Amino acid sequence: MSEQRRVKKAEEMVNWNLVFPNQANPAGNMFGGDVLAIMDTTAAMAAKRFSENQVSTVTVEAVHFAKPIMVGDNIKTTAKVVAVGNTSMIVKCDVYRDDQKGGLLKCVSAFLTFVAFDYQRHPTQVPELELTQEDKEAHQMALIIKQSAKQREVEFGQLDTTP
Ligand SMILES: CC(C)(COP(=O)(O)OP(=O)(O)OC[C@H]1O[C@@H](n2cnc3c(N)ncnc32)[C@H](O)[C@@H]1OP(=O)(O)O)[C@@H](O)C(=O)NCCC(=O)NCCS
Repeated sequence: MSEQRRVKKAEEMVNWNLVFPNQANPAGNMFGGDVLAIMDTTAAMAAKRFSENQVSTVTVEAVHFAKPIMVGDNIKTTAKVVAVGNTSMIVKCDVYRDDQKGGLLKCVSAFLTFVAFDYQRHPTQVPELELTQEDKEAHQMALIIKQSAKQREVEFGQLDTTP
């Protein structure tokens, strides 16, 4: 008899960083790649906590650098699982700049897909997600992004990763 799949709520991971000059271009804007590294780490922690397993990033979709982040900024990164498949999870990740007056300005957002692995590095089932009211919109967006990625694959095939 197959085991009942567990249902659980996702926890939001929060990570604060100070932006240093070695993370920026000469004009003082933070490099996109450095922002992505922070997002990937924070999102991986959210996926790891949710799945209670090791995880790997499979895709990063819908990255939008909407506002600049500058040297000296305090930035807050949030990440939460908003949709799940069988072994995969989609994490919504946002980066905010602290305006030092009690406000936060959203600068970057993305949806990252992770796969959970067992100790033999085989993809392994994740719990069912108990969706909260506040995450419904992000959940819908995640499903649309997943669907459009699938459509892209149907039309153009998988990305060619051969050297
Ligand atoms: C993750 C990985 C094992 C998936 O391999 P795979 O052969 O596609 O495995 P599966 O077919 O069993 O798919 C596993 C899950 O990944 C999902 N997946 C695979 N490719 C995907 C893609 N391009 N977009 C979204 N999800 C994808 C599948 O839909 C499946 O999810 P589900 O179980 O919820 O339906 C493989 O792509 C890999 O090892 N990639 C490298 C990961 C890495 O090194 N990341 C960077 C450092 S962490």
